[in-house]
Amino acid sequence: MYNSKITGLGYYVPENVVTNDDLSKLMDTNDAWIQERTGIKERRHVVKGDGDTTTTMGVKAAKIAIERSGLDKDEIDFVVFATLSPDYYFPGPGVLVQRDLGLKTVGALDVRNQCSGFVYAISVADQFIKTGMYKNVLVIGSELHSTGLDMTTRGRGVSVIFGDGAGAAVLSREEDTTKGILSTHLHSEGEHAEELALIAPGMGKRWVTDILSEDNPEEDTSYFPHMNGQFVFKNAVVRFSEVINEGLQANGLTASDIDLLVPHQANLRISQFIQQKFKLNDDQVFNNIMKYGNTTAASIPIALTEAWEQGKVKKDDTVVLAAFGSGFTWASAIIKW
Ligand code: UT7
Repeated sequence: MYNSKITGLGYYVPENVVTNDDLSKLMDTNDAWIQERTGIKERRHVVKGDGDTTTTMGVKAAKIAIERSGLDKDEIDFVVFATLSPDYYFPGPGVLVQRDLGLKTVGALDVRNQCSGFVYAISVADQFIKTGMYKNVLVIGSELHSTGLDMTTRGRGVSVIFGDGAGAAVLSREEDTTKGILSTHLHSEGEHAEELALIAPGMGKRWVTDILSEDNPEEDTSYFPHMNGQFVFKNAVVRFSEVINEGLQANGLTASDIDLLVPHQANLRISQFIQQKFKLNDDQVFNNIMKYGNTTAASIPIALTEAWEQGKVKKDDTVVLAAFGSGFTWASAIIKW
């Protein structure tokens, strides 16, 4: 048995900054509401014509991560790509990364776990490395939200929150099993699937007659994400806490052992709640939702990369990743850096 460890990190966000004031020109919203409820000041949106897609952003992040890992791209044995916004309904973006990075004909897997997608993807990569099947796995989380949001007042409860971007990590074999990814814990509760969902273009859309009006296609909102924000919020704070505790306990650790918590950037108020609950100081929790909004599967790898670049992730640190989102799914990873 081996462990896996993160040997390279990278992120990419589009250059185009969209402020809260910019959004208030499109819909009935304002900077004060968005900052107070979410902590978000601005986010990035791709610009039509720039050519950025979920895949191309993922590839840009991956190139940085591979370079920092010190590996040649031919040493990558497998690709795991987490997203809720694939370029195509099928095939998924994993194979497009294999093509665009010019990798050998290695396996490429797509993970569909939304905000928890990156932690799920890390877990998948970790299992392949633990068993000895693969030595180096490229893990990507990338999202292009902006082209699929309802940018009218009708969609404001969702559209102000999400942003575009990508993050990537290279996981490699670690022979010392007291280091690297110590554990991952994954959960789901499909009972609440429709509380945060995008119904179309799923094959089940034609049966969701109650939200479709064939006489008036303008009223078909199934192409936009729907979120029961308060319900999601209440579940998030409970599940975040549970899954962090589960990970700590599995490793004989307590909250006081956490050097850095990198939570999924869903809402600054959720991060602050978790920070208080675990009695962590500001230096022990990394947040960047203010700059990028919620980038779903990309949020943790973008945040982890920024934290690492700022010297906030050091050798032997205990780093905790935790996420909650659509599904519902939630997950944590405990890492000895
Ligand atoms: O990453 C995946 C997981 N996602 C999450 O964890 C998100 C969890 N939920 C949340 O973060 C929060 O519920 C939101 C930020 C989405 C919303 O905040 P809230 O404090 O729960 O607000 P609300 O939905 O209860 O809306 C309060 C009011 C409503 O008006 P009335 O009915 O009180 O008159 C909304 O219509 O705010 C209104 N509103 C807005 N006003 C200005 C909703 N969106 C906006 C907006 N600008 N963008």
